[in-house]
Amino acid sequence: MHTELPSLDPDDWAAFRTLCHDLVDEALKAVEGVREMPVWQPMPDAVRSALREPAPRSAQGAERVGAEFLKRILPYANGNLHPRFFGWVHGAGTPVGALAEFLAASMNANVGGRDHGAVHVERQVIEWCKEIFGFPAEASGLLVSGTSMATLIGLTVARNVLAEGDVRDLGLLAEPRQLVCYASQQVHGSVAKALELLGIGRRGLRLVPVDAEHRLIVEELHNAIRLDRAEERRPFAVVGTAGTVNIGASDPLAELASLCRAESLWLHVDGAFGALSLLAPGRRGSLKGIEQADSLAFDFHKWLHVPYDAGCILVRRGGQHRASFAREQDYLAAADRGLAGGAPWFCDFGPELSRGFRALKVWFTIKTHGLDQLGQAIAANCDLAVRLAGLVGKEPCLELLAPVPLNIVCFRYRGEGLPEAVLDRINSDIVADLQEQGIAAPSTTRIGGRLAIRACICNHRTRARDLEILLEAVRTLGRQREAELSAVGQA
Ligand SMILES: Cc1ncc(COP(=O)(O)O)c(C=O)c1O
Repeated sequence: MHTELPSLDPDDWAAFRTLCHDLVDEALKAVEGVREMPVWQPMPDAVRSALREPAPRSAQGAERVGAEFLKRILPYANGNLHPRFFGWVHGAGTPVGALAEFLAASMNANVGGRDHGAVHVERQVIEWCKEIFGFPAEASGLLVSGTSMATLIGLTVARNVLAEGDVRDLGLLAEPRQLVCYASQQVHGSVAKALELLGIGRRGLRLVPVDAEHRLIVEELHNAIRLDRAEERRPFAVVGTAGTVNIGASDPLAELASLCRAESLWLHVDGAFGALSLLAPGRRGSLKGIEQADSLAFDFHKWLHVPYDAGCILVRRGGQHRASFAREQDYLAAADRGLAGGAPWFCDFGPELSRGFRALKVWFTIKTHGLDQLGQAIAANCDLAVRLAGLVGKEPCLELLAPVPLNIVCFRYRGEGLPEAVLDRINSDIVADLQEQGIAAPSTTRIGGRLAIRACICNHRTRARDLEILLEAVRTLGRQREAELSAVGQA
């Protein structure tokens, strides 16, 4: 029986502090020693079933829950802290980012609006981003969960600005013509998803052919726009990519910007990971034109290694951004002074009202390391990608499948005279073997119809030796798989 009103604070603060310190020590030990661990290990069935339990009605206590975390959760990480994690596009995290995450949670700020420190930190982070990408003073921004959400917001503003009617009031049913958005065939799936959510649908997305370097062909784009106009549809936006997910190619953004200006279209840039490559010495040139985008989506959780999740949308004309999301509500009225001051509120720039303090981990990361050091880590990843491509080129049993414009190397094991279907199978088996044996974690993709081992180097801990380990293992596993298949007569 409680004699006092119950509180969720610890009864014994000193004991709780000790527990926190112990857990932090264990978590940091895991980061410090990550290189010695398998890149990934599946969670054993016994651990999975041990995690399953009815919703606990009675208190288990933080000590017991913390011990369970160390035993049953921490060892079964995604693997992206490890220097030989090469899959998808995953940032590697930093210890200081983890610290900032804890500190932000300790404040438990709701950054939807009002006048408090977290709001000012987010504003500062957005100002830095405007400066990094050369956006004008009137530009606005919002920290979001990632580029998928940022693109949804950017294309919402584009739709609302360029639709013929007032979409916020009337909805799309009142639009006389089908809205059309253009992007390259290599565009990320989040763009189609955004168009589905916006009521435009996948039919409103034209996929424009790319050249041998995977860059959108501007002439093809121009033709597609002309055709849609001739057939009474309404082109409204072009999505340019800075760093395609397959190989890291960047569309000719400056050309896209001038075409969009000439055609009165919105240019949204998906720069999920590639945009921040302009921090790397000598890389700004390949993203020329990014500063002219009407909206730009990118992630801090990828190449800036801020712990998940942290993305950003920048919109060139802040007034248009706000006009897409602001809503008057009596209980949320902003005031000239007091805690309800601090206008404009972030909730007026996106769909979410309650928002966490994502900005602190970005602020901590940028201030702790500085943009130069972060840019050097990006440059080092790109240099390693060139090195990996060179090593692949020297190996008769390996084959490079795509250019390497940034940090992604797509290659495959090639046996002697094996049919394509068998090569696909061998290479997907190699990737699964590498992951399951904890040696390395590349992912797969298809390049020109062929299954590729895709190594995306997006980790500040990766070194040249890690690439050699990867290739040694690919060679060995490839030979093993080839021998197994020929033993059963399938090769
Ligand atoms: C080019 C590109 N666009 C968009 C995304 C989606 O980003 P997020 O996972 O942060 O939503 C990714 C993710 O890898 C990507 O590579």
